[in-house]
Amino acid sequence: MNSAERYTSITLRSTQDNLARDVRQELTGPIKSLPCKYFYDPEGMALFEQICNLPEYYLTRVETAILKNQAARIIELCPSELVLVELGSGSSTKSRYLIEPCLARQEQLAYYAIDISPGGMENGVWQLLQEYRRLRIVGLVGEFADGLSYLATHASGPRLVAFLGSTVGNFTEEEIARFFTMLRHHLRPDDRFLLGVDLLKNPTVLEAAYDDSQGVTAKFNLNILARLNRELSAKFDLAAFRHRAIFNHERNRIEMHLVSLRDQRVRIGDLGLDIDFHQGETIHTENCYKHSQSQMESLLACHGFQVLSRFTDPQEQFCLFLAS
Ligand code: TRP
Repeated sequence: MNSAERYTSITLRSTQDNLARDVRQELTGPIKSLPCKYFYDPEGMALFEQICNLPEYYLTRVETAILKNQAARIIELCPSELVLVELGSGSSTKSRYLIEPCLARQEQLAYYAIDISPGGMENGVWQLLQEYRRLRIVGLVGEFADGLSYLATHASGPRLVAFLGSTVGNFTEEEIARFFTMLRHHLRPDDRFLLGVDLLKNPTVLEAAYDDSQGVTAKFNLNILARLNRELSAKFDLAAFRHRAIFNHERNRIEMHLVSLRDQRVRIGDLGLDIDFHQGETIHTENCYKHSQSQMESLLACHGFQVLSRFTDPQEQFCLFLAS
């Protein structure tokens, strides 16, 4: 079979109406924020790819190195005739390290890539299909919950669900609880869960990772306003907001904000809404929580996951948890 015959793309639900609704809700409250999932339009995806290659952004490099070294061992700890599922697969760059050991021990492999961004998926997917002739890929464009519901009725066989890139760090403890509960509800006893977690470390290192010297992360953060301009006819002046990434010591998280540089009123055309900002007021766009290994292990245990093994780098910057 050629590549095209081994690829299916399914859009699970339109996210457009949600954008309008979420923006209205989160920009009209006393503390302004925007949901971080809206970073990932095609422009945002491209910028995020650049972030992953920045010298300061160690996360991708370290996680990839752990995967490279440990993937064979990870797959050994999974049942045979495995189905691979990735949540937030982005451009599917890391999945190859899991695909290879799977194909070394089974004839064929189905890989379900679930991501909110349709644009980011395509390139990586075609490359994988070219490289691995015994691989079939289903791209599910949508939210994690919708992707997992889809899998409940479509993917048979034991599954390895990978959730990499420390995306779990973007969840509050409450959101983690909801997410783990939802995930567990979808998993069967012989399924496995592979979780990539950025570990607590020196705040200077963390702040640099989210505020690089080339200003790519700043662009990435500001792109969410550019997206509102594009998609909701908003009138944000990008020069009137500045990117800020700070480590919050009480909560062990990097916070990303967009700081208003002056008093201003911004029109969001499609919502028929004017938003007032005073100088120094921020839009809180993201949290990146940093966990210790023991913390994450007990969070997993709390929600019924049993950690089979954990894999980390020599400096213990990042950790992969394999759980059942
Ligand atoms: N979840 C990853 C992290 O927390 C990737 C990520 C999400 C990110 N948003 C980001 C990286 C903003 C840099 C800037 O690191």
